Amino acid sequence: MKKTLTGLKPSGELTLGSLIGAIKQMRDYQDNYNSYLFVPDLHAITVPQDPEELKARIRKNVGLYLACGIDPHKNTIYLQSENLYHANLSWVLECTTYMGEASRMTQYKDKTSKGENVSVGLFTYPILMAADILLYDADYVPVGIDQKQHVELARDIAIRFNKRFGATFNIPEPLIPPTGAKIMDLQEPTKKMSKSSENYKGTILLLDDPIQAKKKIMSAVTDSENLVKYDPINKPGISNLLTIYACLTDTKIEDVETKFQDYNYGSLKKEVALVVANTLTSIQQKYQEIISSNIIDEVLDAGRIKTTQEAATKLKEVYHKVGLER
Ligand code: TYM
Repeated sequence: MKKTLTGLKPSGELTLGSLIGAIKQMRDYQDNYNSYLFVPDLHAITVPQDPEELKARIRKNVGLYLACGIDPHKNTIYLQSENLYHANLSWVLECTTYMGEASRMTQYKDKTSKGENVSVGLFTYPILMAADILLYDADYVPVGIDQKQHVELARDIAIRFNKRFGATFNIPEPLIPPTGAKIMDLQEPTKKMSKSSENYKGTILLLDDPIQAKKKIMSAVTDSENLVKYDPINKPGISNLLTIYACLTDTKIEDVETKFQDYNYGSLKKEVALVVANTLTSIQQKYQEIISSNIIDEVLDAGRIKTTQEAATKLKEVYHKVGLER
């Protein structure tokens, strides 16, 4: 069985974008793949975090994975920080990655171009991500479009390592959803919806009050044409709403466009708001049950034990290949 693997950083609250770009893909694939879903908490500390808040968000992430329909019997679920091999492999891979290729990562370039004083960890972050993927020989990495470049770096690192030291790593492929690879900010629909967004009205959090979420959809920025059409370049706001509806109802974007072609923007928004609110209500009901049970610890303990054994075997092979042994 082919293996899928992905993770969502607990650096902020999970959003509708996190659900559509990554979690939904894992849920859709979980019956047919050997699925690994982890919490990249080491990645979260590449930017400053409040320790208590981070701790709470790590648990929240796992609770939300399960509440969004990730089946713990079909997925291996674990914390990156509980498995010391991730950071170990990352070091070896850092030593085989060129400054030039790491410097080309657009996420890093975007952050530094704003003149922010960033950590070295933010620079090496994509190499730790490569380690996350290569440690388990993942075949597919379901991600939103913003992470595609990082998965491609993981491929380059694996190909180079294999050439130099002999076949060691599987070469992973990114899995980008055909619709919903980049859910946009509701207030600035040319920007990605992000957990770190400054304008709270632009982002829908999975734990937002459904009534508030409805209001956010109703006040989403659109355009003045009053013509419902899927055209992400010229009509980013409307296209984003159609995309959200399509993804949450598992409908083709063309069919959603046809369904709403005679609607005005107000009535389209009402329909989208309803679907979003229903999605959040259903997730939050399950979340409340999960968060007050022992299931999170049980799942994470099982995941830690399983992945630590697998990762130990892989790292041993890597150390052997590069000559790190007596
Ligand atoms: P992160 O935590 O920023 O995002 C988690 C996942 O959600 C997707 N995503 C979106 N998709 C569509 N529209 C959006 N608005 C949106 N916002 C977020 C992201 O593309 C991503 O798939 N570096 C990764 C975490 C990571 C990882 C890994 C992923 C660490 N190691 C190994 C895969 C494999 C990150 O920061 O994602």
